[in-house]
Amino acid sequence: MKTSAVSAFVAALAATSICSAPAEAQPQPQAGTAWRGCCGVTPWPHGGGMMGGGGMMRGGMMGGSSDRHHVAMMGGVPAPYTNLTNPLPQGAATIKHGAAVYAANCTSCHGTTGLGDGEAARALSPRPASLAWLSNMPISRWDAFMYWSVAEGGEQFNSGMPAFKDSLSKDDIWAVIGYIQAHLPAAKASR
Ligand code: HEC
Repeated sequence: MKTSAVSAFVAALAATSICSAPAEAQPQPQAGTAWRGCCGVTPWPHGGGMMGGGGMMRGGMMGGSSDRHHVAMMGGVPAPYTNLTNPLPQGAATIKHGAAVYAANCTSCHGTTGLGDGEAARALSPRPASLAWLSNMPISRWDAFMYWSVAEGGEQFNSGMPAFKDSLSKDDIWAVIGYIQAHLPAAKASR
């Protein structure tokens, strides 16, 4: 009886929660495990197979980004960014483009290797996020979250993260996102 009660609860959660992932991206619900983190820890709206790692969200390595993650996970990415997906092909050309955008616009705060240790970082509170860490997290595969973060910046979080929607083209923003999602390879090569 207990098991079926839990299953019913889980099914209700799945039906009503903000976890409105497309059916094909949903993990198989397992009472007490897969859904425990629903609606607060791992409700990734897409990116099947990227589940897990939710516990690391609170690992203390996220720099100043915990408010941002919280807002996106609880309420979704705001319009007009809600359903964006990266239109650029994942490949060498995008990564090269993104590396150039990153070097010119992001290293001063996020650092060459993305650790959040750029020259301007020390003066900032909250500190710049570690994009190297972020690139290992499922949330970095959420294109809409990434685009919103870069386009709108950190005004809403009282952070120094600039809004790039007027200074970078859409392609520049998508390319730098692709570069981060590829784990900042140019920075690694320069180490
Ligand atoms: C003036 C300093 C500064 C510059 C330049 C800057 N950022 Fe940031 N960035 C921050 C700070 C501070 C945060 C953490 C607070 C926040 O999330 O708003 C942040 C957060 C982020 C996040 C969210 C990280 C997370 O874990 O949620 C992303 C993505 C990001 N920056 C990407 C970029 C990209 C890409 C560029 C270059 C196009 C860039 N930033 C340039 C200061 C900067």
